[in-house]
Amino acid sequence: MYSHLNGKHIILGITGGIAAYKSAILTRLLIKAGAEVQIVMTPSAREFITPVTLSALTGKPVISEFFTANTGQWHSHVDLGLWADAMVIAPATACTIGKMANGVADNMLVTTYLSSKSQVFVAPAMDLDMMAHPSTTANLAKLRSYGNIIIEPAEGELASHLVGKGRMEEPENIVAELDSYFGKIASRGSLVGKKVMITAGPTREKIDPVRYISNYSTGKMGFAIADELATRGADVTVISGPVEVTPDNPSVKVIDVESGREMAEQCAKLFRTCDIAVMCAAVADYTVASPADTKIKREGNNPPEIRLVKNPDIARALGEAKRDDQLLVGFALETDNETVNALDKMARKNLDMIVLNSLRDKGAGFATDTNKVTVFMRGTDKPVSFPLKTKREVASDLVDMIAKISL
Ligand code: CTP
Repeated sequence: MYSHLNGKHIILGITGGIAAYKSAILTRLLIKAGAEVQIVMTPSAREFITPVTLSALTGKPVISEFFTANTGQWHSHVDLGLWADAMVIAPATACTIGKMANGVADNMLVTTYLSSKSQVFVAPAMDLDMMAHPSTTANLAKLRSYGNIIIEPAEGELASHLVGKGRMEEPENIVAELDSYFGKIASRGSLVGKKVMITAGPTREKIDPVRYISNYSTGKMGFAIADELATRGADVTVISGPVEVTPDNPSVKVIDVESGREMAEQCAKLFRTCDIAVMCAAVADYTVASPADTKIKREGNNPPEIRLVKNPDIARALGEAKRDDQLLVGFALETDNETVNALDKMARKNLDMIVLNSLRDKGAGFATDTNKVTVFMRGTDKPVSFPLKTKREVASDLVDMIAKISL
C-alpha cells in the first residue's frame, strides 16, 4: 500500500504523552512498509510505553540516553541525524515542541533533532488548552519556519468534532504523509551521476594587503542550491568566495577562492568535466589594476586614485566553451528593467536558464534568508514566477527545473 517507504531510514522520536501508545502502531506500520526504524525516546516517554515493546517491533535497541548505562557506549546524535531519510516526532508534547523550537538540547531526542539533516515531521499531542496557548502556537510557527512539517488531524475532522484539537494524528495518516513525501522526492527527478559546479558568494579584489573591494553577497543561495543538488544525488563542487556559510550536505566539496580571477581559473579547470554549471556568485565586475604590495599610508600622500580594470566574465567564458551536452545556469540581480536585462544576459552569456531576482521585491537578493525569483528558460518565452520563499525552498524549485531540463 505504501510504495515509497521501502528501505527508508526513519528516526521515530517519542515523547511523554498519553498518545505514546500509538507510536507502537506507527512503528508497526512503518516496519510493514519496509522502512528501517530507529526509536529515540525522551526519558518521560518511558513512563508511557516500555522500550522493550518498541525494540521488539524495530529489531533495534531503543535510544533514550546519551550513553548506554551498562556499557558506557556513546550514542552519536550526529551519526543518527545523517543516517535518517526522515525524522518523525510522534507524539510531540508541548514541552518537546518548545525545546525543539528554542534549541534546548537536554536530551537525546532534541540533540538528534538539532543534528538532523533530513526532513522532520512533528505530530503534536496535548490537551486542548495547551494546544491553544500562544506559546505553543508560537513554537509551532517556529518549527514551520525551520522547514519542519506539522502533521495534525485535518480541519474537516476537527470541524465535525470527530477529534479535538491537540489530538495526535492517527498513525495511518502519519504513514500516508511520509509515503507521499518520499513519493514526491522520487518523482522530482534524480541527478545521480551528474557532475555539477556552482559559484557562490562575493569576490574580494585587493587594494593593498589590508583592504579590498567586495559586495554584500553571503553565498546562502549558492550553498542552498549545492545542498539541494547533492540531496538529489549529484556530485557537487562549490567554488566559493569568502563566506561564512558551509554546506549542510557532507558530500558537497568546496574550493575556496578570493578574487574574481582566482574564481575564473578554478571554473575553467572544472567546467570541462561538468554536466551542469550554476553561476550564483556575485563576481566583482572590476578589479584593481595594480594592488599595492604594502599598506597604503594616510600621511604624506594625496588620497590615492585606484584604477580599476575589468574582471573576467566567468559565465560568458563558460558559455563560449559550452558543449551541447552541458547546461549553464546564470543569475541576474537587477534593480530596474528586469526582464529586458535578464533576457539580454541569457543571450550574451549563452545561458540555458537564467534566474532573475529584483531588488525591488522585498525579501529578495543579498543577505536575506528569503528570495523571490523568476526563471527564464532558453527556447521558451514564458517565464516561471515563484512567490517569496525561503532560500532553501527556492533552491528546491530551481533544482526541480534543472533536473527536468538536464534529463
Ligand atoms: N558573472 C560571472 N562573472 C562575472 C560577472 C557575472 O560569472 N565577472 C555571472 C553571475 O554569477 C551571474 C551572471 O553572470 O550568473 C550575471 O551576473 P551580473 O552581475 O548580474 O551580470 P553582469 O554581466 O556583471 O552585468 P551587470 O553587472 O552589468 O548587470
